Amino acid sequence: MEQLVINGGKPLRGTVNVNGAKNAALAILPAVILSEGISTIDNLPGIEDIKNLVQIFENLGAQCTFSDKHTLTIDASTVNSRRASYGAVKRIRASYYLLGALLGRFNEAEVAMPGGCNFGQRPIDQHIKGFMALGAKVAINHGMVRLKAEKLVGTNIYLDVVSVGATINIMIAAARAEGTTIIENAAKEPHVVDTANFLNMMGANIKGAGTDLIRISGVNKLFGGSYTIIPDQIEAGTYMIIAAATKGTVRVQNVIPKHMDSLTAKLTEMKCIIKEGEDYIEVFGPERLMPTNVKTMVYPGFPTDLQPQIIALLACAQGTGIVTENVWENRFQYVNELKRLGCNITVEGRVAVVKGPATLSGAEVHAPDLRAGAALVVAGLAAKGTTTIMNAKQINRGYEDIEGKLSGLGADIRKINA
Ligand code: UD1
Repeated sequence: MEQLVINGGKPLRGTVNVNGAKNAALAILPAVILSEGISTIDNLPGIEDIKNLVQIFENLGAQCTFSDKHTLTIDASTVNSRRASYGAVKRIRASYYLLGALLGRFNEAEVAMPGGCNFGQRPIDQHIKGFMALGAKVAINHGMVRLKAEKLVGTNIYLDVVSVGATINIMIAAARAEGTTIIENAAKEPHVVDTANFLNMMGANIKGAGTDLIRISGVNKLFGGSYTIIPDQIEAGTYMIIAAATKGTVRVQNVIPKHMDSLTAKLTEMKCIIKEGEDYIEVFGPERLMPTNVKTMVYPGFPTDLQPQIIALLACAQGTGIVTENVWENRFQYVNELKRLGCNITVEGRVAVVKGPATLSGAEVHAPDLRAGAALVVAGLAAKGTTTIMNAKQINRGYEDIEGKLSGLGADIRKINA
């Protein structure tokens, strides 16, 4: 089992480079299936979720070649299967994009219900509602979702909840449908926009991505091409929080500063000094962090995927901060692990009360999921003494070479196989 061992308590200094966005890559790779051409995707993050997805692609018949760690060429013309089994998809939540992609290409798909992080119920009813509105018949049996359509025809779809996954999945399926599809109450996250830009590069006609109304005019055929994925908002945010937690000075390079606005505002309230350049953000952690309150929301609100990390940071602040989780029903299960390091957190339903300042000291902890694992890294770096994070493979799902990047900033961290 992989473990991260951290000797914390040191201020981190230097520059860290952010990789391509995991959640954009997990949508863009399946979207490649819509074209019968060859596509080259650049700035892919070197993380476990991508490796698993590439494996699924090869099982479907696609030919995948990495020319370097971050650049993948995919020949989707050879895709000959419409089925992805549970064994293949259980480790990644975003496998649901295979439904939209296979349906869009073949009018048929059979994909196991997705796996990924477990923070409560993760329904896909809005995805299914969208596919049905486009003309697909749906059957869900024994954990497999089966979609079949005579043809897909554009229509108006109003999402009952703002869902990133449903917005992207419907956009993918509708790109080759007959006529125009309008998605109302659409998600506006940066990776929704990135996927729309990628589909347009392949010849799709999508307008309005980044607003709550997206208009997709279906086209007959999509072509291969080359595309560079945007930087990862959540990886960037995690390093910004680490700078603050260790009272360090870190330049987070290769970011789109606009994507970070909600976090930048909170770190400023906590008395960090933030400097922004065109493609970097520099964070100066203060000697005394002030508390603040955070509510997670859909973009451009504070991202739920930075909620565990900001809780770890609030534990170090001089007073009480309140965090309200508005996106997922059950995303605080990890706080008991943070408590092992000395954090003072109480949870009542969707609200966590974080009392600082805690004197953090190293302990053995277990990473229950990806972002909770990142929060343990934040706390472990702030804590005095040795923290051992077990089940570190969860962290590798979303952070490329986290131990190498943090070592480059002066952290004492190493990965071991125990
Ligand atoms: C994506 C991200 C995930 C992030 C989440 C919210 C990927 C691969 N994952 O997940 O890291 O935490 O966005 O920013 O991009 N919902 C329904 N019905 C549906 C779909 C969603 O009720 O059909 C609800 C969910 O239970 C949740 C909320 O809508 O409460 C948001 O979910 P959604 O935006 O769909 O999250 P994902 O796309 O799964």
